[in-house]
Amino acid sequence: MKFGYFDDENREYVVETPATPLPWINYLGNQDFFGLISNTGGGYCFYRDAKLRRLIRYRYQNVPADMGGRFFYLRELGKTPWSPAFLPCGTALDRYRCRHGLGYTVFESEKDHLAASLTAFIPLHETCEVHSLTLKNNGKQEKEIELWGAVEWCLWNAADDAANFQRNLNTGEVETEPSVIYHTTEYRERRDHYAWFSVNTHTDGFETDRDEFLGPFGDWRAPRRVTAGQSKNSEAHGGAPIAAHRITVKLEPGEEARYVFLLGYAENPRDQKFSAPGVVRKDGARRVVDRFLNPAAADAALAELKSYWTELLSVYTVSSKEPRLDRMVNIWNQYQCMVTFNMSRSASYFESGMGRGMGFRDSCQDLLGFVHLIPDRARERILDIAAVQKPDGSTYHQYQPLTKRGNNDIGSGFNDDPLWLVAAVCAYLRETGDFSILEELVPFDSRPGSEAPLLEHLRCSVHFTMNHLGPHGLPLIGRADWNDCLNLNCFSEEPGESFQVTGPSDGAVAESVFIAGMFVKYGREYADLCRRLKLGDEAARVDQAVADMEKAVLTDGWDGAWYLRAYDAAGNPVGGESCAEGQIFIEPQGFCAMAGIGGAEGRPQKALDSVRKHLLGDYGVELLTPCYTAYHKELGEITSYPPGYKENGSVFCHNNPWISIAETELGRGEEAFDVYRRICPAWVEERSEIHRTEPYVYSQTVAGRAAARPGEAKNSWLTGTSAWSFVNISQAILGIQPDYDGLRIRPCLPRELGELTVCRRFRGVDYTIHIRNGGGHRPQLRLNGLPLAGDLVPLPPEGVKTCHVEVRL
Ligand code: GLC
Ligand code: GLC
Repeated sequence: MKFGYFDDENREYVVETPATPLPWINYLGNQDFFGLISNTGGGYCFYRDAKLRRLIRYRYQNVPADMGGRFFYLRELGKTPWSPAFLPCGTALDRYRCRHGLGYTVFESEKDHLAASLTAFIPLHETCEVHSLTLKNNGKQEKEIELWGAVEWCLWNAADDAANFQRNLNTGEVETEPSVIYHTTEYRERRDHYAWFSVNTHTDGFETDRDEFLGPFGDWRAPRRVTAGQSKNSEAHGGAPIAAHRITVKLEPGEEARYVFLLGYAENPRDQKFSAPGVVRKDGARRVVDRFLNPAAADAALAELKSYWTELLSVYTVSSKEPRLDRMVNIWNQYQCMVTFNMSRSASYFESGMGRGMGFRDSCQDLLGFVHLIPDRARERILDIAAVQKPDGSTYHQYQPLTKRGNNDIGSGFNDDPLWLVAAVCAYLRETGDFSILEELVPFDSRPGSEAPLLEHLRCSVHFTMNHLGPHGLPLIGRADWNDCLNLNCFSEEPGESFQVTGPSDGAVAESVFIAGMFVKYGREYADLCRRLKLGDEAARVDQAVADMEKAVLTDGWDGAWYLRAYDAAGNPVGGESCAEGQIFIEPQGFCAMAGIGGAEGRPQKALDSVRKHLLGDYGVELLTPCYTAYHKELGEITSYPPGYKENGSVFCHNNPWISIAETELGRGEEAFDVYRRICPAWVEERSEIHRTEPYVYSQTVAGRAAARPGEAKNSWLTGTSAWSFVNISQAILGIQPDYDGLRIRPCLPRELGELTVCRRFRGVDYTIHIRNGGGHRPQLRLNGLPLAGDLVPLPPEGVKTCHVEVRL
């Protein structure tokens, strides 16, 4: 069952009912200012940091759900108020549509022949949300309407706002002007920023005191002032400051009216923050308010935003006969990659915006999905990330986006982290050819004076693994590897204790076969890079370590029909047939097979066959089986989840692409595409009532077969699935791989994708790649009409800006 449809031409998902299984959200904003907005208008916005600079209040876990955001009310005299986005009023509408587009959302609704169209977006280069509302009288009589637009201010720090009431019920302050309400809480002291909510028209009144607006026992669905049709122009002092504007509208039949509401943020220099004693200096807001006085400015800003996305998404496009493939590749997968770039794991409807900082491994992997779109910002990101590495090569597990410093609360000890830096940097180099990044001086642990070239950081990463091997010659796992919940050195028995920081960070024995796979793959990439840089000795050293690691995996990391997962702190195998539960895990199968460990003996193929046999369900490849049915302190958090959920055997979508990519390495296009499709939103859309999360983006997990409701997804949007899925489809299945000296073309397609064209902009050259799939997997290439040996299309001579490639399989 579906609740909407893809409108590919407009690059929108059109939600046709407010009653989706969960709020289906979209993201607004590109650089510093961001908003979340659901298909019923819920959500919030913030400047840079969702915890510290939140503009409006949002109550996660509230009942009724998703009652927060930008509240709009329309009331015709004598009739029930309603909202263009359906909520907060919840009044049944005669017509409702929510169009989630790239960085904007439109609501189109109608009630009793009054039509509303509300468009929300954040203009490029502005720190404000625009809510542009058009009303139209589709009836035969004149209409008299009261329009309210309202927001409830969050007192900046979202965590404090939801906890520290003894203070924050005293601090709330506002300033008011005709048509503009300013939120100035704490501005009197150490804040130099304020927020505002404005409308580009004369208003007939306002409210800034929430209690006054809602009335006794009131709520946002039916505020007293809206139902009564009057305003008291209340001024908030402490309590809960809001901003609500009242506008009366008269519309003749067929007549339209247009309003532009702005919800904005502005900062002042500390020494010039007051325009008069105690009065906030407001020219920052004034400039933006003036810019959008004329609604045509909002249209122009929206058009500008749309062309920004058109340009961005033109770097990689496919055109095939499978619309689901095209819409994911051309629109939604890349869009989600950009959202994970902007948000990391901070703010979604599952991440409260108050939790973790930027993950080291998450950020490195996210980069694989956006480096082709925004190489400059990827470069900056790499340098930020590398600066939280320590001199011994270990890294902080997280860093804070505002300070860019390593987060001491969680510290280090996640032994896969360092190697992800190699993955990210090599991806950047292959995309851009910008080797100068390797010479950039980057500090260790953010300490001034400790700077070393980025290449040295890569060396530290690789040698960290080489220097931390366990009894079987496999890498020590530390607190955890990619699987944050496989905590082999933790042994926690206290409820509520964090599995990620309890116990020693450097157990002496527990080893990870997954990190071994990573080391073989990325160690090899690093050695290749060294050879390119004429660092032959270093390359040879690492080659040797990689060969030793392969041997260790084949000797002690193989279980007969698949790769083992780990050895625990007592030296017992994890993820082998001898285990009662958790006999086979996805991660080492994916990574060791991608690394080709034991290729000569057919191990990758055997492992992937075992994955299909044991882990593949209708909804994707599960993380492990059989799921753990009881808590094991020697295994940690993974056994804390009920069977079929999260790391305990859900379809943890993030590592499904590894399996798919590994299948392409074996030339198995059918199997690769089969795995791709099972978790791909556009295919899952048909089962939205089971899946429940948004059908246009990936979720982190989908409940596995051991769960009570298999197929139910959780944690949409902010997941590494997005980047890896894009790597999988764009580079492995469609096979267009950026490489140091050109574009490598190695498609591995299922038969159903007969003929297709990929357009790829790479180092400033536009490649049109036309692929005819006859079912083989040895590509025959022609470049600009001439046969080309091998699969590498070299960079054209200077000045040539287009290349045409014909590929036959
Ligand atoms: C979460 C974390 C990620 C980790 C994964 C598996 O998605 O953000 O870092 O690898 O869970 O535990
Ligand atoms: C929990 C989650 C895991 C996530 C971690 C982050 O352990 O299960 O997915 O990576 O929290 O701290």
